[in-house]
Amino acid sequence: MEASSPLSGNSVEAFRQRRLALIERMTRGGGGVALIPTSPEQARNRDSHYPYRADSYFQYLTGFIEPEAVLVIVAGRGDTAPQSVLFCREKNMEREIWDGFRHGPDGAREAFGLDAAHAIGELDARLAELLADQPVLWFSLGQDAGWDSRIATALNRVRAESRSGKHAPATIRDVRAELDAMRLIKDATELDIMRRVAAISTGAHSRAMCFVAPGRFEYEVEAELLHEFRRHGCEFPAYTSIVAGGANACVLHYVGNDKVLRDGDLLLIDAGGELSGYASDITRSFPVNGRFSGPQADVYSLVLAAQDAAIAAVRPGATFADPHEAALKVLVQGMIDLKLLSGTADAAMESESYKRFYMHRTSHWLGKDVHDAGEYKAGDRWAPLVPGMVLTIEPGCYVRPADDVPEAFWNIGVRIEDDAVVTADGCEIITAAAPKKIADIEALMRDARAG
Ligand code: GLY
Ligand code: MN
Ligand code: MN
Repeated sequence: MEASSPLSGNSVEAFRQRRLALIERMTRGGGGVALIPTSPEQARNRDSHYPYRADSYFQYLTGFIEPEAVLVIVAGRGDTAPQSVLFCREKNMEREIWDGFRHGPDGAREAFGLDAAHAIGELDARLAELLADQPVLWFSLGQDAGWDSRIATALNRVRAESRSGKHAPATIRDVRAELDAMRLIKDATELDIMRRVAAISTGAHSRAMCFVAPGRFEYEVEAELLHEFRRHGCEFPAYTSIVAGGANACVLHYVGNDKVLRDGDLLLIDAGGELSGYASDITRSFPVNGRFSGPQADVYSLVLAAQDAAIAAVRPGATFADPHEAALKVLVQGMIDLKLLSGTADAAMESESYKRFYMHRTSHWLGKDVHDAGEYKAGDRWAPLVPGMVLTIEPGCYVRPADDVPEAFWNIGVRIEDDAVVTADGCEIITAAAPKKIADIEALMRDARAG
């Protein structure tokens, strides 16, 4: 029996194209050999391990998700063709009875379209040979101490053979710089998966809205989210779900999720599934009892207006900073109108007094990692937005009790977060199906209660 692969929706060809794109970049950077290891397994306690999740760079290039594996890419030169070589666990009937299917080198080479594959146990013996006389080693130095030392040993073994005319690579370059640039622009296969995980995750938010009522516990709502992710095929939540009732919404990374939901409070849910190694990242804020109070609606409408402005700023030619600037402009004026801030908008921008209520940025890249790979700035210039990039749009307003803040707003925390794909003339909000207009949220919750 073959274990189903969570990456089975991806075509082998998409991975081959990514490896070819990396080879082109390596060739421009002097050729040589790249080593991309997957993540180690992590012990949780005694004999239990955390659920295994393959390294994002490694799975981006291979689609292979077993632990104990390394991809070696040789750029090739002259008459020597480039090669993609996988080192992975051997087949082992005894271990497969206990732990499940392993492809083994021959099966993996075939299934994942690689040029060659060997047992991971052969890596050290073959490494010196792979590195010898290569001009450049592409490796993520500093990411894992064990790998750093393994590579250093292999390089020293090549250097020890200098009297037989062998040379170790003179240059070591960080392969992540090239892969980060590639991962910033999603290909069609990636966008297809991201739309699917977005659809599953919006369904989970709608389900939570229908389920929530005073007296329920935050963890019960979390269970509804996880149920919805998993029953549609997500392997994991993309990050620990935040289910924050009332004042907990003002704790940005609240993950305790153990308090009771109270009539009259808002609930902030920041949760998304992970499908085939791709994240969704959605936040909705809504009333536990299904009806926004006046002050809750004031803060919510302000954040929604800020999000609208930010979304309108996402288009090719704009920069990564533009949605944040657009959201901030709306938020700061709104905070003044609600008397959360005093003085002028210019003064609030200058002094950054708004940071008391809005202390995070509006966007981050989204992809295989929820805070995805990719530079935000080149020098001191913000990254220009390009079709195929995916970023979140997530303004918020968090009001902690204080003497100089109108009491009506105390403990109201609102964030509204959607995932935007940059298109040729603007953006596509792939998470739009999760209700966010006040009337839509209230109607859904009312219908759920009536139904
Ligand atoms: N859920 C993580 C974030 O919004 O950045
Ligand atoms: Mn986010
Ligand atoms: Mn989020």
